[in-house]
Amino acid sequence: MTQIIRKIADLRALVRGWKAAGEVVGVVPTMGALHDGHLSLARAAKADCQRVIVTIFVNPKQFNNPDDLKQYPRTETADAALLQTVGVDVIFAPQPDEVYPDGFTSTVSVGGVSEPLEGRMRPGHFDGVATVVTKLFGMTMADRGYFGQKDWQQLQVVLRLVRDLNLPITIVGCETIREADGLAMSSRNSRLTPEGRAIAGVLYAAISTAAEDIRAGQSDRMAIREAAEKLRHAGFDRVEYIELRDAETLMPSDDTRRPRRMLAAAWLDEVRLIDNIPV
Ligand code: PAJ
Repeated sequence: MTQIIRKIADLRALVRGWKAAGEVVGVVPTMGALHDGHLSLARAAKADCQRVIVTIFVNPKQFNNPDDLKQYPRTETADAALLQTVGVDVIFAPQPDEVYPDGFTSTVSVGGVSEPLEGRMRPGHFDGVATVVTKLFGMTMADRGYFGQKDWQQLQVVLRLVRDLNLPITIVGCETIREADGLAMSSRNSRLTPEGRAIAGVLYAAISTAAEDIRAGQSDRMAIREAAEKLRHAGFDRVEYIELRDAETLMPSDDTRRPRRMLAAAWLDEVRLIDNIPV
């Protein structure tokens, strides 16, 4: 039976018992509105750990747009039913004032990797993510934390954070789960119109072709320009960025000996879609 816990003290009491029994504890941080992408993380955690906690918290500190925060879907009952099928032990779903009580003033800020791309487009976003993730690790005392490659830059920020602050947790990055047409699953996809949904798969198709062309020897700039053209032609409203970066530092890179990643953000129907793939 999946238990819902809302108070940090209750969570810690339970986890202390697990740890005393020598059980390995995994955490999957989420903002709810769960889909197969989230569930794949919970399944990966179940495979590795004796105990699994999924956190559901729509973190106000990481939203730089108040409308986006207001519109963020909240579907706790359905989420709980899905997590029950995976066999998750605990859903930790605190209220905002449990996480950020009066007087809260600290911020965790990761330099370097959190600055370009999403960091530039969404000022303060990664400070909000790094702060809440650090807190969730502290609250859950988890041994292992599961994150999706869908949010590649976020995954690199968390890896850097854990290394820099010596947090006693192992981070596991899990593959992006996609719809049949390649669209990366996301809670925001439900805001697409039927027309938008019909072309949204072009984002993945375009960056996949660009990555193949680069591997086949085409120039990075040419391949990226063609991908952006394809998106506009398909009906995307705006291409925010398509970039080829060092997979770990997210800095521009033409060093083909190091892993590189192509990352993209584009707007369709007022919805901001992001995706990334290895090159
Ligand atoms: P959220 O967007 O709910 O995502 C929770 C986790 O699910 C993240 O690690 C994300 O990368 C992963 N995920 C989302 N879609 C996925 C997909 N299609 N395939 C694989 N994994 C996917 O990311 C956040 O919440 C927040 O920033 C959070 C880390 C919880 C901090 O508030």
